[in-house]
Amino acid sequence: MFDSEKKALVAIAGKNEICLIPRMANRHGLISGATGTGKTVTLQTMAETFSQMGVPVFAADVKGDLSGVAARGIATESIAGRMASYRLTDRGFAFQAFPAQFWDVFGERGAPVRASIADMGPLLLSRLLALNDTQSAVLTMVFKVAADEKLELIDLNDLRKTLEYVGNKATALSGAYGNISAASVAAIQRSLLILEEGGADAFFGEPVLNIDDLLQTADGKGVINILAADKLMASPKVYTTFLFWLLTKLFSSLPEIGDPDTPRLIFFFDEAHLLFNEAPKALLEKIEQVVRLIRSKGVGVYFISQSPADVPDAVLGQLGNRVQHALRAYTPKDQKAVKVAAQTFRANPAFDTEKVIMELGIGEALISFLDEKGAPRRVERAFILPPQGRIGPLDEEERKGMTRDSLVYRYYSQVHNRLSAAEKLADRHDAGLSAKDIAARARAKVREQTAREKAEEKARKEEEKARAAAERQASREAAETKRMWTGLAKSLLLPIARTMLGALFRRR
Ligand SMILES: Nc1ncnc2c1ncn2[C@@H]1O[C@H](COP(=O)(O)OP(=O)(O)OP(=O)(O)O)[C@@H](O)[C@H]1O
Ligand SMILES: [Mg+2]
Repeated sequence: MFDSEKKALVAIAGKNEICLIPRMANRHGLISGATGTGKTVTLQTMAETFSQMGVPVFAADVKGDLSGVAARGIATESIAGRMASYRLTDRGFAFQAFPAQFWDVFGERGAPVRASIADMGPLLLSRLLALNDTQSAVLTMVFKVAADEKLELIDLNDLRKTLEYVGNKATALSGAYGNISAASVAAIQRSLLILEEGGADAFFGEPVLNIDDLLQTADGKGVINILAADKLMASPKVYTTFLFWLLTKLFSSLPEIGDPDTPRLIFFFDEAHLLFNEAPKALLEKIEQVVRLIRSKGVGVYFISQSPADVPDAVLGQLGNRVQHALRAYTPKDQKAVKVAAQTFRANPAFDTEKVIMELGIGEALISFLDEKGAPRRVERAFILPPQGRIGPLDEEERKGMTRDSLVYRYYSQVHNRLSAAEKLADRHDAGLSAKDIAARARAKVREQTAREKAEEKARKEEEKARAAAERQASREAAETKRMWTGLAKSLLLPIARTMLGALFRRR
């Protein structure tokens, strides 16, 4: 919450207030902890704080329990208790609904979010399709062929038809683009089918998401964009690739602004461990790079995961604002995770970090936010404030009403289908041709090309001949002119001279 002095108050540690410094909020963060310890409520409390600051938020709602932020909170016994003991009402705490925009890849529980195939690019698409390196190289070639032949890749149908086309023309295209194996094309086609059966075809098409629609405010509050991710989570790869695509889109669309006084957008990435699981090296490098650079575009990324050990070091090192809820240490692996979590904090002499991590109650956390200079503060044991919106999901009717009433929903619900690769290829009748036809056509093309080159050579030679002839003619004409002039001179000047000389001698 924003307290009466406009401080971003997130938690209370005895007499101490734990505040986030708005200027440091784009230095990213991590909310970690075991199941049921309070991560989603912390996310909600922080999202509301940003909203009150006028900063829009994007959050994936993995369990469907974040939508309550759009409704006024309720003073349950536990919340009323917390309000009284932290004197929250005096500090400006007031139950209130926050402006929310619901999004849903499947277009059922929010405005449809769509990308184009070209927008997603071969690296992320390879991950979506679970391709190996060889297949992924072929997919990259398919993108190149499409670009060279001006075949717009918008939806899955465009990609399917272009793949078919490349597969059919593999021999002819290999010369220019490198080896295109038929087995790789077939494997990509199979993966595409699986993706489609999972419902991902809804995600590709137009209108594609306009990033500005995530950067809205309403009555001075930042809009909290909530992506329904429960159904999406059935396929963790689709979920994480989609969220990462969104981050890369934000990164490539937004201008540099350095370190702003308040961030432009805060992006909460729930179940973040899924993003890093089995991610190929190229993707990990890309994630690390996007997280590092997106900060100067004013976007703060907050990962939510069970343990800091889930996050690769190169990324973890960039997450400046940390909230650690309780961890359990049943197995040796758990104990190691507790150690790792404890070591990431600047110790507080008042307690043993490692021990306290295992003792924390629900809604209680170890917190270290960055100070004014960007250095991590000493870790504090604190209670996260309850949200001012409602904890838990909206009921379906409330949600449906809010979703359908939005202009954004109406805009994105209209599917556009403009002329793109699939239609162009259908026009060319290429995709339906047999391999024999393709080979014959390729041979015909070569013949055509040779004939064209021969004709061009002949024309060039003829032109040269004509030019030489013209030159010869011109020099002949020049000589003739000279001769004529000389002749003229003789025939005209001599009589004149004779006359003049005659006149001269006669005078004497
Ligand atoms: N700061 C808080 N103030 C009030 N109640 C809280 C707070 N934090 C957690 N709770 C209570 O604990 C419950 C569980 O919290 P939450 O859903 O945030 O856990 P979680 O860590 O996200 O769990 P999971 O891993 O299953 O998603 C909440 O529904 C709420 O009732
Ligand atoms: Mg949760």
